[in-house]
Amino acid sequence: MAADAKILVFGAGGMLGQELLSVTPPPGMELIGLSRTQADITSSRQVGRVMAEHQPALVINSAAFSNVDGAESQPQAAMAVNAQGPEILAKACAQAGAPFIHISTDYVFGGSGQTRPYLESDPPAPLSHYGLSKLKGEELVRSACPQHLIVRTSWLFGALARNFIHIMLELMRTRPAIKVVEDQVGCPTPARELAQALVTLASMVLELGDAAWGTYHLSGPLIINRYQFAQMIWAEANKSLDKDLTIEPVGSEAFAAPAERPAYSALDCTKIKQRFGLALADWQPELARIVSFLQESEMHARV
Ligand SMILES: NC(=O)c1ccc[n+]([C@@H]2O[C@H](COP(=O)([O-])OP(=O)(O)OC[C@H]3O[C@@H](n4cnc5c(N)ncnc54)[C@H](OP(=O)(O)O)[C@@H]3O)[C@@H](O)[C@H]2O)c1
Repeated sequence: MAADAKILVFGAGGMLGQELLSVTPPPGMELIGLSRTQADITSSRQVGRVMAEHQPALVINSAAFSNVDGAESQPQAAMAVNAQGPEILAKACAQAGAPFIHISTDYVFGGSGQTRPYLESDPPAPLSHYGLSKLKGEELVRSACPQHLIVRTSWLFGALARNFIHIMLELMRTRPAIKVVEDQVGCPTPARELAQALVTLASMVLELGDAAWGTYHLSGPLIINRYQFAQMIWAEANKSLDKDLTIEPVGSEAFAAPAERPAYSALDCTKIKQRFGLALADWQPELARIVSFLQESEMHARV
């Protein structure tokens, strides 16, 4: 019997990485996750060692320096993980003949004056060191490994790692009023559904052998601002909280965050639908599941 095709996932300890490792792979495929302590993607030696050990049929990189504000004060660290690391992985994949799926971000775009979702062919214009480092990573991956798929996604949320939902629930539980920005528009994306779609993509690439290599957008279908997202979280949270809360829409200047975010960064996901038949569905049931899971966990933690 033929051995299973191994999919090696770097950054397996992160929000998306954990979800990737929770997916049940199709028959004939095995998912192997490596956290930062098991393989630092900025080390050619460590990447070379695990590639030789596992001999993967395909590699997915979900490792990143994802702290958008932190990247403003640590631009070199962000560049190392988001640009040099992916280049090391891409070179190792090219050498091993393994296709490479690399995850990127809507923050490669600037958002200024944008009124329709971004196409893959639209010119990037990052506003932050995080966006700049991710864009550089894309460029290095393209030139180091022809057999690549760069999947840009946006506004990830999930139950397994701290994200916008965790922050909102904490504020909603403890405060009578909160402020949320309304001048950032994007597409919230459930990490669990994205992970499932990426594993499907990986299996299609392995079946096809020769996929339509290039850059793709894949995010949730709803285009909303952060204030509207908070309102949707509150609609779920208040089913069990039953309290009065004022949510005030404000401009980004109210928070003076170190990194500038795009005012608009919705992604047009038509291309991946046309080429691979992949699209993410309405995520409101997943939002309800996550909110009730987090509220129950929080209640247990208090008892
Ligand atoms: N989160 C979002 O809203 C969002 C939006 C758009 C795109 N994305 C992209 O989606 C991908 C997954 O993001 P995420 O939210 O899952 O990020 P995350 O939760 O921060 O996970 C990233 C993982 O990478 C690991 N890592 C950091 N440096 C590493 C290194 N040198 N070698 C190996 N692993 C390293 C981190 O380990 P430590 O925890 O030990 O640092 C962490 O486990 C990233 O490419 C990100 O840019 C995310």
